[in-house]
Formats: sequence, C-alpha cells, structure tokens
Amino acid sequence: MTSAVEATVYARVVAADELRDGELIPVEIDGTPVVLVRHRGEFFAVQNNCTHRDFPLSEAGFDARDGLLICAWHNGCFDVRTGEAVVPPPTEPVETFPVRLVDGWVEVGLTGSLEP
Ligand code: FES
Repeated sequence: MTSAVEATVYARVVAADELRDGELIPVEIDGTPVVLVRHRGEFFAVQNNCTHRDFPLSEAGFDARDGLLICAWHNGCFDVRTGEAVVPPPTEPVETFPVRLVDGWVEVGLTGSLEP
C-alpha cells in the first residue's frame, strides 16, 4: 500500500503572449477555479472567488497601477501579488498559486494530495 504525498502539479494554461498586461482570464484547474492575471510582465494566479460573498474575481476590474483586483459586487480589493484583502468588505485573503513560464507557456501550480 502506498501513501499519498503532497506535490505541486503544474497545468499549462495559456501562451504567455496571448495575455496582455492588465488582462485577466478565468481558468479551471483540476476542478479549482483560478483567475490568471498579467501584471507588469509577470503572471499571478489567485482563487477565482471573492472571500466576501464568493463573487467570481474573473469578473473583477483590475487596477494596473496598484495591482489590485476590484470585486465587481461590493468593490472589495485584493492585491494580485499576495492575495491580501486590502479594501473591505473582504477581510480574508484569496489563495494564491505558483506560476511559472515554460517554453512560452504559462503554467499554474496546484498543491494537493496525490497518489504516487
Ligand atoms: S462579494 Fe466581493 S466584495 Fe462582496
């Protein structure tokens, strides 16, 4: 019998040049809703649910000056780089996910229990 291990598995999401600076797209990775954002040439991935009332952040506005996702329901804001809730009503951060570039593709990592 084998035991489960914690591992980060990367999923290829989009070609890096398909997302312009300040753009965001929703993606679903292994059943997990994620929003991917390009900000100042870097890519960031956070959970696609506002921690206030669960509104999809892929429908949020994006303030490129400060790197903030602005929830479309009650205007709560999250720092896309850290997931921190910086403007209420949300007080809890959104989960962030690792992102890497491989051969011009953006890959988002999820950590979970995987059977070896
Ligand atoms: S649901 Fe996002 S601020 Fe209320």
